Amino acid sequence: MANLRLVLLGAPGTGKGTQAARLAKRYDLKPIASGDALRAKIESGNELGRQVEEFVSAGRLVPDEIVTTIMLEAINGLPATQGFLLDGFPRTPAQADALAAGLAGDGRRVDAVLSFEMPSDEIIERLTSRRICSGCKKIYNLRFCPPRQDGVCDVCGEQLMQRMDDHADVVATRLQTYLDLTHPLIEHYLDRGILHRINAAATPDEVEAELAGIIEGLERA
Ligand code: AP5
Ligand code: MG
Repeated sequence: MANLRLVLLGAPGTGKGTQAARLAKRYDLKPIASGDALRAKIESGNELGRQVEEFVSAGRLVPDEIVTTIMLEAINGLPATQGFLLDGFPRTPAQADALAAGLAGDGRRVDAVLSFEMPSDEIIERLTSRRICSGCKKIYNLRFCPPRQDGVCDVCGEQLMQRMDDHADVVATRLQTYLDLTHPLIEHYLDRGILHRINAAATPDEVEAELAGIIEGLERA
């Protein structure tokens, strides 16, 4: 099971990061999140970080070449037998082609794409009430998954914060960007016979159970 190569695809706020953490632990897969990698670049404060921040803070996609370089480096840094979960990448057809080409060089390919699907109004509610730990990056939600103590991470005790792109106006741009640029990947992966649709509006445990059924089906196939 540990050598599966999975892609989590879905609009902002559909629970990709939440489920990536659960699946990584359950199946010994390495989670690689493009958003986390880009936010780390921003925190580094260098010139590339400043360029990336302009796109992320506006809710627009970072140029394909920048993201693809970062993600392929992370993938290629893993041992060949280590399975992984890509969260938020690929997000355009050009990124999907670059990923396929990068893996094909070593005779590898994506085994399955898990498409997180739910209505937009629920997404907006989830994102505007999301909080992230400033230390360990654990994801909370003031309404659906609150911390035990207000504003403090249950795991490491650091302060919770709101992401720069979780304000209502930026969320609207992110959703439109998803529809314009990323949604076409559903067709792309359907054509390749590896897309699985998930009901992301269910509870976190229910979503995890649906994903586990698919992953264990892949293992048996
Ligand atoms: P990224 O960090 O990837 O953000 P995103 O795709 O917009 O997705 P989110 O992280 O917002 O949501 P999620 O699906 O992970 O949901 P979560 O689990 O947190 O990207 C950010 C930016 O970076 C992009 O806008 C772009 O600028 C840039 N970028 C990233 N990748 C790029 C790429 N490939 N190309 C170009 N640019 C790129 O859950 C959301 C909330 O809901 C949380 O509060 C959580 O607690 C709660 N929740 C989760 N599941 C449930 C549930 N089942 N029921 C109730 N609440 C739930
Ligand atoms: Mg995320």
